[in-house]
Amino acid sequence: MHLLINTGGGDAPGLNAVIRAVTLGALNRGWQVTGIRYGYEGLRTGDPDGLVPLDRDRVRGIAHLGGTILGAINKGNPFEYPVQQGDEVVLTDVSAEVLARFRAVGGDALVAVGGDGSLRIAKRFCDLGLPVVGVPKTIDNDLDGTLFTFGFDTAVSVATEAIGRLHTTAESHRRVMVVEVMGRDAGWIALHAGIAGGADVILIPEIPFDIDSVCVKIRQREAAGRGFSIVVVAEGATPHGGGRVIRAREAGRDVQLGGIGEEVAEAIRALTGKETRTTVLGHIQRGGTPSAFDRVLALRFGAAAVNLVERRLFGHMVGYDPPDMVPVPIPEAVARLRRVPLDSGTLRTARSLGMCLGD
Ligand code: F6P
Repeated sequence: MHLLINTGGGDAPGLNAVIRAVTLGALNRGWQVTGIRYGYEGLRTGDPDGLVPLDRDRVRGIAHLGGTILGAINKGNPFEYPVQQGDEVVLTDVSAEVLARFRAVGGDALVAVGGDGSLRIAKRFCDLGLPVVGVPKTIDNDLDGTLFTFGFDTAVSVATEAIGRLHTTAESHRRVMVVEVMGRDAGWIALHAGIAGGADVILIPEIPFDIDSVCVKIRQREAAGRGFSIVVVAEGATPHGGGRVIRAREAGRDVQLGGIGEEVAEAIRALTGKETRTTVLGHIQRGGTPSAFDRVLALRFGAAAVNLVERRLFGHMVGYDPPDMVPVPIPEAVARLRRVPLDSGTLRTARSLGMCLGD
């Protein structure tokens, strides 16, 4: 068996742990393993450097490292590959080239590690006859079919630590500190880090917020002698009747979010007269060493992916359904995003703690 593995989309802490577990699981079965650099790019270009033979030495001591030794890319969808034609970028289907090269290198199966975009691509390849097994990755934790994706716990830990640090300076200066965290469509990071860090206000994409209710909370704290407040905002949060704040757009799609934190801070300043500051945590949440939880989760995902290949359960992703790893059909996993349910116990906990959710 010759197994190929790639890491698609944005990176997440734990990717290297998955690569290690897949490689060792395969080698221990007597299989051969090859890494594809930069998603499908290493196959598409035909460049010999695009493929990395993975042996024990290559994956030694990498489980604790952030990033991915294979490289990541989020603009390399082979079914809509951006090709420059004159002044225009034309989205072109180059999947046949990728498929042909997969066969030419003697690939028997692919382990595709990615979020919903990468897993959709993997499924399309599967439909074209490429045997694929998926591993769910995203710090946003918004993939369906798994309780947790790896990377999420690390992002929450980073954001929680930042909120803790902002608390002391907020209190010293009696300021309102607004912290913008990642979370395009789902507010898991904001909710978990907000609760863990003792935020006063948590704004998530699932609950459009009313800035007046945010200010009511800040004024109530002021009246109770608490001159400072911490507001955690997911990058995809929206005000009632308003849209997402977009930093950069590409080919008509919302690509880069960011800026809602500053808008919220401005509004609080205008409505309450309080001094406000904004911190955007950005990619700090994605970089660096994975937490112990994410390492174990990622190593388990990798080992389980090899098991699915062995059982020829292609077209499936590994899902974490505690305490087990289970096969989940990829179409089911990508049919909808896993957003914070409005009746979630974690949301109820935040409310019970007196946190304002902007509604
Ligand atoms: O999907 C994970 C994520 O970190 C989102 O939360 C964020 O919007 C996006 O990736 C950022 O992507 P990029 O690395 O392209 O800026």
